[in-house]
Amino acid sequence: MKLLAANPGWTVQADVIVIGSGVAGLTTALNLRAANLSVLLVTKANIDEGSTKWAQGGIAAALGPGDSPDQHKSDTLIAGAGLCDAEAVNVLVTQGPEAVRKLIARGAVFDKSDSGEIDLTREGGHHRNRILHAGGDATGAEVSRALLAAVNDDHGIEVIEHALVIDALQDASGRVCGVTVHVIGEGSRDGVGQALARAVVIATGGLGQVYSQTTNPSVSTGDGVAMALRAGAEVADVEFIQFHPTVLWRDNPAGQEGQQPLISEAVRGEGALLLNHKGERFMVGKHELAELAPRDIVAKEIFNQMKGANVPHMWLDATHIHDFVERFPTIFQSCIDNGIDPRVQLIPVAPASHYASGGVLVDLHGRTSVPGLYACGETACTGAHGANRLASNSLLEGLVFGAAIAEDIARELPAQGTPVQRSEESLLIDPAIRLSLQLSMTEGAGVLRSEASLKETLAQLEQLGKRRSTQPCIEAWEVSNLYLLAVAIVRSALLRTESRGSHWRSDYPDTSPTWKKRIVQKFGVDAQWSTSEIEVKN
Ligand code: FAD
Ligand code: SIN
Repeated sequence: MKLLAANPGWTVQADVIVIGSGVAGLTTALNLRAANLSVLLVTKANIDEGSTKWAQGGIAAALGPGDSPDQHKSDTLIAGAGLCDAEAVNVLVTQGPEAVRKLIARGAVFDKSDSGEIDLTREGGHHRNRILHAGGDATGAEVSRALLAAVNDDHGIEVIEHALVIDALQDASGRVCGVTVHVIGEGSRDGVGQALARAVVIATGGLGQVYSQTTNPSVSTGDGVAMALRAGAEVADVEFIQFHPTVLWRDNPAGQEGQQPLISEAVRGEGALLLNHKGERFMVGKHELAELAPRDIVAKEIFNQMKGANVPHMWLDATHIHDFVERFPTIFQSCIDNGIDPRVQLIPVAPASHYASGGVLVDLHGRTSVPGLYACGETACTGAHGANRLASNSLLEGLVFGAAIAEDIARELPAQGTPVQRSEESLLIDPAIRLSLQLSMTEGAGVLRSEASLKETLAQLEQLGKRRSTQPCIEAWEVSNLYLLAVAIVRSALLRTESRGSHWRSDYPDTSPTWKKRIVQKFGVDAQWSTSEIEVKN
């Protein structure tokens, strides 16, 4: 299966193609340059678009006094609810501090305490203060700024913006040797072309746009995961969609679709409290960390409170954080823009889709199951997050595994392959179904799922998927990707007859030891799904 698109009208070539310009793509590109490889970095909108620049809370790394990678590992494993790959977590937490130091060496500036040390804060699931932050709550913007400056300074990285990658190109052996890409450009590189390379790294970020309410920007349509599926790669853990517990709830139906403003967990890390509609704290007694329990536990409790009282949101009380404006300038501004002054008013909050803990299944070097194809960052499933990612481990994952991928590619890079014509069926879905698909996913495959709700959503998806288009365009390619991923998520969520981490089933409320497994899916050239399971030992 491939997406319907015009035949490539132009060609470009490099040693390695990196798709995406978030923390994962930029880090991989810079590390590839250290190995003297030429890099083509393609990104579908402006170069700074993506989740990275929106990251608020920070980056987790065991850098503080008394902290250690082992303690970071323990918190990560607990948050992951028994499904983390212990080796991947080990790599993340032991290489994390060095990766952060390298980021600082590349120019990123983190907030300091009065004593001049890096100021470390806390977020949900962490038993220690180990979150570095920048600009108060603008960590992602600083990470993005620093990495982009380094990329701009490197003439061995060619960047093409407004370049949407459509599908992988494979040689006769099935090895990936490039991609098709649609560029809104000018001159010789306009429209659909082919980019050839000896290895391709997908770093296209998350898929939050599968849902109607998400913290993710509009570019997060999971294109890379869908492209990998169509190229025959395995994906895993896709049912584990993380819903962030505290997203600003807006009393305005028009404002309740698409990207929603996040109220960082770090606000709770600095002492903000969750209150129900009666003004009572409800997390005390639910978990030893109360408001700072792992994210899945807080999201579920908020959801229960909302359902129980039939109200659309809970409240976050940050009125006692005396330096709110200085510590959280971005959040302060988005509250003010929505008519709330968090210094004196409670903030209405509700869960929204935030992060894909699963994705394209990779090994510790970022290799997918298809030769020549790598995946990094939110697109990938390294197994480091298991059933629920620990706060602020995502930026870290991009830094650590971006470096590992570059090292692997530099070790062994075959000659450029020749793409073979793909003769299989083409798919293109009517872009008009986007909102219906998102609403159906939120309703039936959201925070709380059941066999009935998932089957209903799958039936709706089947109907929506019949609405085909013959007019290739960005909106149609994106919605076709969203559709494929929505089906993958629902299929996995139906199979997993238990509740674990961020997968919460009303009909199977308990965690089952028989489900200490990863669900792996593949999508064949014949457009048929196949499923397998991997036992998780940790
Ligand atoms: P992204 O940063 O999303 O980058 C993906 C890139 O791929 C973009 O450049 C995009 O344009 C490009 N792209 C997509 N599709 C295509 C295509 N078809 N062709 C070409 N290019 C394409 N994590 C933390 O660790 N700490 C935090 O404090 C934190 N806060 C967050 C706050 C918010 C509001 C959000 C949304 C996320 C937050 N996260 C946080 C999660 C974290 O930001 C992301 O998981 C991480 O930035 C993902 O990085 P990435 O490089 O994988 O993807
Ligand atoms: C937040 O700041 O609450 C988001 C952190 C994350 O997603 O890791």
